[in-house]
Amino acid sequence: MAGPTLLDIKGVQTFYGNIRALNGVDVTVNEGEIVALIGANGAGKSTLMMTIFGAPRARAGTITFAGTDITQMPTHEIARMRIAQSPEGRRIFPRMTVMENLQMGASLDNLKHYDEDVEKVFTLFPRLKERIAQRGGTLSGGEQQMLSIGRALMARPKLLLLDEPSLGLAPLIVKQIFDAIRELNRTQGLTVFLVEQNAFGALKLATRAYVMVNGNVTMSGTGKELLANPEVRAAYLEGGHH
Ligand SMILES: Nc1ncnc2c1ncn2[C@@H]1O[C@H](COP(=O)(O)OP(=O)(O)OP(=O)(O)O)[C@@H](O)[C@H]1O
Ligand SMILES: [Mg+2]
Repeated sequence: MAGPTLLDIKGVQTFYGNIRALNGVDVTVNEGEIVALIGANGAGKSTLMMTIFGAPRARAGTITFAGTDITQMPTHEIARMRIAQSPEGRRIFPRMTVMENLQMGASLDNLKHYDEDVEKVFTLFPRLKERIAQRGGTLSGGEQQMLSIGRALMARPKLLLLDEPSLGLAPLIVKQIFDAIRELNRTQGLTVFLVEQNAFGALKLATRAYVMVNGNVTMSGTGKELLANPEVRAAYLEGGHH
C-alpha cells in the first residue's frame, strides 16, 4: 500500500557540459511503492539516478526526500538521509571479500545491529553466505548483483535505488533478484525506485512506472497499465516474452 510521498522530483534538468540530459523531469515515489523507470539506451535513466545523489547536480528543478529539499545537499549527506543505491555496473569492491563489501555498506550508526543486518542479507541471498570469504571480483555477475544490493541494504535505507539490476544476467538469476526485491518490499515495506532495460520484468514488478525518452518522461501509469499499453508494447516489449 502506497503511503505519503517519499521522493519528489520536480522539473529536474541535468546537463553534461552544455548538453542537456534531463529536460525537466517529474517523478514521484511514494512510501511502500516499487517504482520503475524504463527507457532506451541513452534516455537519461542513470543520469536521473545519479542526480538524486547530486552527482551530477540538477541545474534546475527540485528533489525532495521525506520532506527535505536535497537538491543542493552534498552527496555524503544525501546518503545519510537513508537513500542507498546499487549503481549501474554494480561497483562492488573487487579485491574485498563478500563480508568486507557488506561492512562497507554499513554506516557507523548501524554497527550496533551489524550482525542482525548481515543475517538479513544472507537470508535474502543465501548464495552470498556460502561465499562469505570470496573476493568480490571473483563472484559471478548474479552474485555481484546480490552483493551490490546487499551492501546497499546494510545502510538500512528508506529508499533503495537500483540501476539495471538485471543487466547481463541469465533469466533464472533475474527472477531471483526480482523475487528478492518483491520480498523486501512486501515484508519490510522497503520503497524501491529501479531503472530497467528489462521492461517486461520491471513492469510486472512495479506498482507504478515511468517511461523516459530523450531526457523526458513521456508516459506513466501502473505497471499493469503500461504493460497493456500498445505504444509501450511496441517500443519496449516487442520480441520479449509476453
Ligand atoms: N559523464 C557524461 N558526460 C557526457 N555525457 C554523458 C555522461 N553520462 C551520460 N551522458 C549522456 O547523457 C545521456 C543519458 O545517459 P544515461 O547514462 O543517463 O542514459 P541511460 O538511460 O542510463 O542509458 P543506458 O540504458 O544505456 O544505461 C546520453 O546521451 C549519454 O551519452
Ligand atoms: Mg544507464
